[in-house]
Amino acid sequence: MKVLAMFALAAGAAFAAGDAAAGKTLYEKKCQGCHNTKKVDIAKLAAKSEADIKTALTAVSEGKVKGHPKAAMSAADMDNITAFLKSK
Ligand code: HEC
Repeated sequence: MKVLAMFALAAGAAFAAGDAAAGKTLYEKKCQGCHNTKKVDIAKLAAKSEADIKTALTAVSEGKVKGHPKAAMSAADMDNITAFLKSK
């Protein structure tokens, strides 16, 4: 229990929520095919605030970004991708 709490604290200190490693895996699987080019550089997103990133991810997830394929993500997926982007 004590070890778990310490791990949670250490992780929490780096990122408010989300697992950057899981976010990376998800990003590489679902997003990188389009977002690893200069034309659609998702790294630009990393410069935004966490709240703005989540807003953008929510819009993508709900299919509300014009011209963007709908890419459904759970709240946890979005937290993880946000953590991944913020770790870049
Ligand atoms: C089939 C190609 C493709 C895939 C797959 C894809 N995207 Fe995109 N994405 C785009 C394009 C093209 C744009 C630029 C749209 C524009 O600027 O109008 C974009 C833009 C975005 C934006 C910015 C939206 C905004 O509000 O400006 C976000 C956030 C985003 N993508 C997230 C994701 C995530 C997360 C995934 C994986 C779950 C993903 N995308 C997968 C093509 C893709």
